[in-house]
Amino acid sequence: MCGIIGIVGVGPVAPRVVESLRRLEYRGYDSAGIAAHVGGRLDRRRAKGKIRDLEAVLAEEPLHATTGLGHTRWATHGAPSVRNAHPQKSGRVMLVHNGIIENFAALKAELKAMGREFESETDTEVVAQLIDVGLEAGKAPIDAFKAALGRISGAYALGALIEGHENLILGARRGSPLVVGYGEGEMFLGSDALAVGPFTHRISYLDEGDFVAIDHHGARIFDASGQPVERAIRAVSASAALVEKGNYRHFMEKEIHDQPDACQHTLSAYLDPIAGVAAAPEGFDFTTIDRLQILACGTAYYAGLVARYLIEDLAGLPTDVEVASEFRYRNPAVAPSTLALAVSQSGETADTLAALRWCKAKGLRTAAIVNAPESTMSREVDLLWPTHAGPEVCVLSTKAFTAQVTALTALGIAAARARARIDAEEEKRLVEVLLEAPRLLSEALEAVEDQVRPIALDVSRARDVLYLGRGPMFGLALEGALKLKEGSYIHAEGYAAGEMKHGPIALIDEDTPVIVVAPSDHFFEKTMSNISEVIARNGSVILVTDERGAAHAPANAKVVTVPECDPLIAPLIFATPLQLLAYQVGVSKGADVDQPRNLAKSVTVE
Ligand code: M6R
Repeated sequence: MCGIIGIVGVGPVAPRVVESLRRLEYRGYDSAGIAAHVGGRLDRRRAKGKIRDLEAVLAEEPLHATTGLGHTRWATHGAPSVRNAHPQKSGRVMLVHNGIIENFAALKAELKAMGREFESETDTEVVAQLIDVGLEAGKAPIDAFKAALGRISGAYALGALIEGHENLILGARRGSPLVVGYGEGEMFLGSDALAVGPFTHRISYLDEGDFVAIDHHGARIFDASGQPVERAIRAVSASAALVEKGNYRHFMEKEIHDQPDACQHTLSAYLDPIAGVAAAPEGFDFTTIDRLQILACGTAYYAGLVARYLIEDLAGLPTDVEVASEFRYRNPAVAPSTLALAVSQSGETADTLAALRWCKAKGLRTAAIVNAPESTMSREVDLLWPTHAGPEVCVLSTKAFTAQVTALTALGIAAARARARIDAEEEKRLVEVLLEAPRLLSEALEAVEDQVRPIALDVSRARDVLYLGRGPMFGLALEGALKLKEGSYIHAEGYAAGEMKHGPIALIDEDTPVIVVAPSDHFFEKTMSNISEVIARNGSVILVTDERGAAHAPANAKVVTVPECDPLIAPLIFATPLQLLAYQVGVSKGADVDQPRNLAKSVTVE
């Protein structure tokens, strides 16, 4: 993940950009750069390494300007180097970018065929080139920018300077946040409220698909269709900036919508999109273990359950998943060639920590997928495999869950390749599929929000709700039920769809909604038989599926349709309607979704 700061200012811009980049270093720190208008021309300074390395470059070769754009990078496309650092340049354009441009390879080929030359390996340079092509064709900056946005797909936040337009910064967001800051005769663009915090506390959060032009006079914001729009300006205190709700009513809603970004940031740590390979951060040889023991609680446990299907299927690596509170007290028999893998958002959950320590004491190697980098688990394990979901404030875990599944999926691919279960070509294909997840998460959120609303009304009247799924969707059914319980206090149970006839079918009546999570994968037909069993008993079915699945939905089922996707990333995409449903039901019942009764964000007691 990367940090962005843009300033249309009145004083020297370089020291202010550096000040902001220092705050953003937590988002990425393998290289950094700044571009500015100097004497009617665009100039830039870049450095590999930390912000202090950029400062050293600026001390040698200062940039005297009042408008500038800065970036701190966490490499995705192209190794950390000065050449790949942002701002990327093409003709009259300098561009910074957070995110992934999925179709960059096709666009690059097209631009090369037009005779254009590239100086970096980044996907970002493709966007700079597209904007420059528009400018060369005589388009105004905002039109050239808009035309380029129309060509790219993926999840991103962008900031651009255009030579000859001294006091202008262009920005756009899709899947990655971007804020506009309002100062006194100055304007700012930032990847989050923290970026602009040193200069102003008056902030607008751009909505999905928005693009913006800022200058000394203010901001002109346009929605995805190009229509001018207003986005509310709100006051954000510096300390609150990291954990701000933005335009959302609750942290839960915000964090659900943070997921494309959280997924993408997590992927940056595990995938090399150019080489098409997946690897554990800091490297790990999966041929040195014979078994994986996943230990976790609550939602993190369900992430493990989902991943077990993927890891065993892809990598053939035997994988056990157990709730840590059971594992730690049952004197389990574990082989020495087992890797104990804790999964935890907080890295502080007492049961998970104790299970991990037990494994360590038995001489097992330990790893942890953790969202809080400074946590106890992060410090105690042999291998730290981070998720980069950012701070999760709502007690109900949402973005941490999908970030955990993201990391586990990437590890599954890495294990499959190491264990020779897939070849380089298949690894590349899987990596490409996983790289699509941030965009598809974004599309899913947009697609399901309104579909879920009428269903939430029905569910909010229910006393009990059943969730069913097969394969990886079984874990998701459990997670969906947990979210509903926590968010709305409605009794909900998740079951493996095939288990329903062994008991829960006794609960079926017209007042008990049965939420069936069923992508059109190889489990689909079997799950459809379970749906028929529910309908035959007058049960009311809510089918969460994709377009192909929806075509086979029984007439009397209510259907929520998510975008079609590869089975590899279906658990990520299918999580969104379940989270939004729990959120909307909770809100409609007046529950405190961010801090439900009796719960705590970090459970540090056993
Ligand atoms: O911090 P952890 O991921 O270790 O927390 C585990 C559970 O306490 C947590 O997932 C809990 O189940 C959430 N409230 C679920 O929304």
